[in-house]
Amino acid sequence: QTGYITLDSGFSNTGSCTSAITYLDGANGILDYYGYAIEELAENCSFTEVAYLILHKELPTYDQLESFKHDMVRFALLHEDMIHFFDHFPPNASPMSILSTSVNALHNYYPEMDEELDPYGGYTVTAARLLSKIRTIAAFSYKKSIGHPLVYPSARLNYCENFLNMMFDRPNLPYRIRPEFASALNKLLILHADHEQNCSTSTVRLVGSSGCNLYASISAGISALWGPLHGGANQAVVKMLEAILHDGGDFRKYIEKAKDKNDPFRLSGFGHRVYKTFDPRAKIIKQSCAEIMNLLEINDPLLDIALELEEIARTDDYFVSRNLYPNVDFYSGIIYRAMGIPTNMFTVMFAMGRMPGWIAQWTEMVEDKENARIGRPRQVYAGNTRRPFVPMKDR
Ligand code: SDX
Repeated sequence: QTGYITLDSGFSNTGSCTSAITYLDGANGILDYYGYAIEELAENCSFTEVAYLILHKELPTYDQLESFKHDMVRFALLHEDMIHFFDHFPPNASPMSILSTSVNALHNYYPEMDEELDPYGGYTVTAARLLSKIRTIAAFSYKKSIGHPLVYPSARLNYCENFLNMMFDRPNLPYRIRPEFASALNKLLILHADHEQNCSTSTVRLVGSSGCNLYASISAGISALWGPLHGGANQAVVKMLEAILHDGGDFRKYIEKAKDKNDPFRLSGFGHRVYKTFDPRAKIIKQSCAEIMNLLEINDPLLDIALELEEIARTDDYFVSRNLYPNVDFYSGIIYRAMGIPTNMFTVMFAMGRMPGWIAQWTEMVEDKENARIGRPRQVYAGNTRRPFVPMKDR
């Protein structure tokens, strides 16, 4: 295609692939899903609508969206046997380990890739099932961790409202869903929905390229996302901001630490392998963050510190010369905090948003029957040349 580098299909030796889902221009801060600008999708769509686009390549008609929303209701419950899973994790279990384990286990409870079950063809039933159930697993793991009764999904609520209700409703203290929270969550999930061949998506593709099922491939992607250099950064940002706050707000000390090559500390939420300018998602999240704080009349000192850090980093030669800007994780955690979502659930939120992208990338690879090849990145050998064996007595 003109203007595009034609890469090997499937996995070339470098692990590159061809995809039509997401276009990134790191130099100019451009992010499109199937040709639609992220700014327009975040402003005008529901997450369910954007998930449909990413899974089906086109924005849905009214009827298609209504049918997809019905699937989100239809597939929201977990198999009751799976509820016992949550009883057997330790109370302080990481929600990411619960999520990865539970998604993998879905394979045992739901026959997937069963064409008869999937009237639309492809993996659309499995996709809808995963997209809907990840909310339930996330909310149930949180409820279990605080010893509260589970709140089941409701047919009356949309995708984001259902999640917030399952997280925070209580029999003795009914939760009033705040529209501004549901709207902010909707935008955050859209902004996380896909991001071409990042670490976790590449993991989903690599695992799926062996012929492994969709649930297990995504479970592997969840594990890759967990790391603090990737999706775990949204938790690391808030921990970093809290450390600076408790350190008397001395953010310049942390800027210097980040620049010190002898110090492993890095400014979480800053820098990106592809974006060498402001991450377009961070711009939208930063604005959404300010809106939420104003609406709630919250003066979160962490936001003040984040804004100071950004200001310094955007004028400091170390960051400017390396094109280090805030990325998607820099402001997202502050919004999740304002919603009452605990820090250890932040990366789970990232996984919920990324679910449509993981499914679509896996499906795109699997359906490319002509080029489907097992992933096998190559290496440069740097070890010993061939040498004679040494028996134990001579070692
Ligand atoms: C995500 O790939 C994706 O698309 C990911 C993602 C998605 O949507 O899937 O966008 C989500 O993972 C966002 C990134 C979240 N991670 C963080 O915020 C962690 C902090 N950031 C860094 O660790 C780092 O910037 C990475 C991991 C994001 C990118 O690493 P790279 O591309 O390998 O960059 P690098 O290590 O080669 O850094 C280049 C230079 C180095 O200095 P020099 O060797 O040139 O002297 O920049 C420095 C680095 O030391 N640097 C930083 C820094 N990030 C890079 N220095 C201080 N603080 C930082 N955050």
